Amino acid sequence: MPAISKKGLDMPQSPIRKLAPYAEKAYAEGKTVYHLNIGQPDIKTPEIALDAVKIHSLDILAYTRSEGSDDYRQKIAGYYEKNDIHVSKDDIIVTTGGSEALLFAFGSIMDIDDEIIIPEPFYANYNGFSTASGVNIVPVISKIEDNFALPAIEEFEKLITSKTKAILICNPGNPTGYLYSKEEIKKLATIVKKHDLFLIADEVYREFVYDGIEHYSIMQEESIQENAIMIDSVSKRYSMCGARIGCLVSKNKEVIATALKFAQARLSPPTLAQIASEAALNTPQSYFDEVKAEYVSRRNTLIEELEKIEGVKVAKPKGAFYCVAELPVKNADDFAQWLLEHFVVNGETVMVAPAAGFYSTPGVGLNQIRIAYVLNENSLRKAVNILKEALKVYPN
Ligand SMILES: Cc1ncc(COP(=O)(O)O)c(C=O)c1O
Repeated sequence: MPAISKKGLDMPQSPIRKLAPYAEKAYAEGKTVYHLNIGQPDIKTPEIALDAVKIHSLDILAYTRSEGSDDYRQKIAGYYEKNDIHVSKDDIIVTTGGSEALLFAFGSIMDIDDEIIIPEPFYANYNGFSTASGVNIVPVISKIEDNFALPAIEEFEKLITSKTKAILICNPGNPTGYLYSKEEIKKLATIVKKHDLFLIADEVYREFVYDGIEHYSIMQEESIQENAIMIDSVSKRYSMCGARIGCLVSKNKEVIATALKFAQARLSPPTLAQIASEAALNTPQSYFDEVKAEYVSRRNTLIEELEKIEGVKVAKPKGAFYCVAELPVKNADDFAQWLLEHFVVNGETVMVAPAAGFYSTPGVGLNQIRIAYVLNENSLRKAVNILKEALKVYPN
């Protein structure tokens, strides 16, 4: 048989999805499964976005420009302006989700064996994108004990080599919910300027910041206009994960010209989804106020309930809709699978994402899980109760 590539063999499975067959089996056995494993919000997509697709009368569902339609990019620039991010449509390339924007960014700035520094734990698919791009992740460890704050600047500087091309942060963070302060962004700006690196910020959760703190984007840092690449998406902002629309934003003309070549190779982002995403930009502020209030009360309930369980340690998230919890187990992978296969409370069980896959350092995070608070409070309470009861009897 012809051989699979080394790269293909090295591609990691998503820790968020890899237990799916066990969940399928649990459904087949008639169990209810609370999904705390995946960042698929249960929040309704704004009607304005869905209606735009319903009422659109297209004769031909054609390609759009590779960089995305002019109208849409113009309006995205308007949205950024309201967020104190001053860019024009020419600084934006519309992509098939934030996922493709990350791939374009990696492809545009890094060659095989180049290095990218990422605070870990990080969004698990950064591992996949790096493998696909032949790039090596150099992790800088942030710790649950410090609420996953950014490690000291010196820790970054120690890791910079002649192969380092970029630093990547996720702000607010998946899986930690960590929100970088303006001071931290400024520190990062100093490092990338000093060492002539790119700074990529994945800001797909920009809207979801809590406790009255304001999000500070890398695009607001004037001093790093040539270094900064922002990744964005409509998936979470408007609960439009299935639209598959995101974008790459940079003031660096060479980055945009290069990313455009990748965009041309895949021809165009989805046309109907751009129509929906353009309409979504008219979503009233009241929608976000409600959604934010909902996430805040979910977060508070989740953290409160988790903290009541003996032996569980949890970092309080300041943004996004995830948290990382440390459990009194040796192997969270095994625990998560065991939950689906062997444990129920009144016919119900829970699916969580083992956190080891959110680290690139082997052996770290083995006793941690990521919880997505994408269920209503009642379901969250029930799900945490299942975890609590399960920990009492799990054969560790
Ligand atoms: C941090 C982060 N970045 C990027 C993505 C990719 O999202 P999408 O491709 O749906 O825009 C996700 C999805 O969960 C995410 O959590």
